[in-house]
Amino acid sequence: MTTASAPGKIILCGEHAVVYGQPALAVPVTQVQATATVEPAPEGVWIDARNVNRCYRLEDADPSDPLALAIRLTFEHLHLHIPHSTFRITLDSTIPIASGLGSGAAVCTALVRALAAHLQSPLSNPEVSSIVFETEKLLHGTPSGIDNTVVAYGQPVFFKKGQPPVPLAVLQPFHLLIADTGIPSPTKATVGEVRAAWQKEPRRYEGLFAQVGEIVHEARSIIERGSRARTVSTLGELMNGNHELLKMMGVSCAELDTLVEAARAAGALGAKLSGGGRGGNMLALVTPETEAAVRAALERAGAKRVIGTVVGQ
Ligand code: PMV
Repeated sequence: MTTASAPGKIILCGEHAVVYGQPALAVPVTQVQATATVEPAPEGVWIDARNVNRCYRLEDADPSDPLALAIRLTFEHLHLHIPHSTFRITLDSTIPIASGLGSGAAVCTALVRALAAHLQSPLSNPEVSSIVFETEKLLHGTPSGIDNTVVAYGQPVFFKKGQPPVPLAVLQPFHLLIADTGIPSPTKATVGEVRAAWQKEPRRYEGLFAQVGEIVHEARSIIERGSRARTVSTLGELMNGNHELLKMMGVSCAELDTLVEAARAAGALGAKLSGGGRGGNMLALVTPETEAAVRAALERAGAKRVIGTVVGQ
């Protein structure tokens, strides 16, 4: 029996603009995890996706099934043939679905790793990431590749579409709260809406994307070189600026704005939506001193779940 797991993820800054070639920063969230276990089965290949209550044979999977694609691509990558194999893959996850925490990428990453280990051919992070990228295309349409990258590498990254990720060296660890609006929001839908809006008003949207890109470069340099005080105060302002730009792109919603404002009013140094938007999660930058008050304010403002994580620890 082989088991592998993969963390959730959150985008610190740069979502949406990253689809158009701007950089973005993303960090793993180890407080939520996907796990895959592979064990021999008497016959056939079985997918037991407990996270979505579905158990089926690989040969019965829909052509658009990302788990089936992940299995097929792993065999292809290893130059092996599925018909000679009989095994069961069990998947479990504590990562909420369709909320910007990378659940699809994490489940597929855990699956590819566990299967490769079962086949006695462990894969490198770039190999896992490129297989999972193909499954992300089924889920997201035109993904930038940031989700599969941060989840497969399992470390904070500076990411630009089509380029190898650059690991972020976090000089001063910082605390984030991740609060869920409880509104499921498939990334494919908001990415499609931003694309339609960009096609209508290319100059305006490219201006917004470029401003996001500047924020990302500044945030990276603060995270890698700033003092503790400067890291939290400047990073907070940059997150606030990024939220405004995401609002102008049309991907926020009343529930996200309410949580963002509640966090700031309770002492967060910055707050923004994270991921596709229109629901899903937001992020608040806090200190150990303000964390409890901001968490309570988020819960009072309607957050369905609040997860705390420390980046760079
Ligand atoms: O999976 P999410 O909701 O965190 O969004 C991914 C980030 C986007 O920039 C919105 C899409 C992408 O492919 O980069």
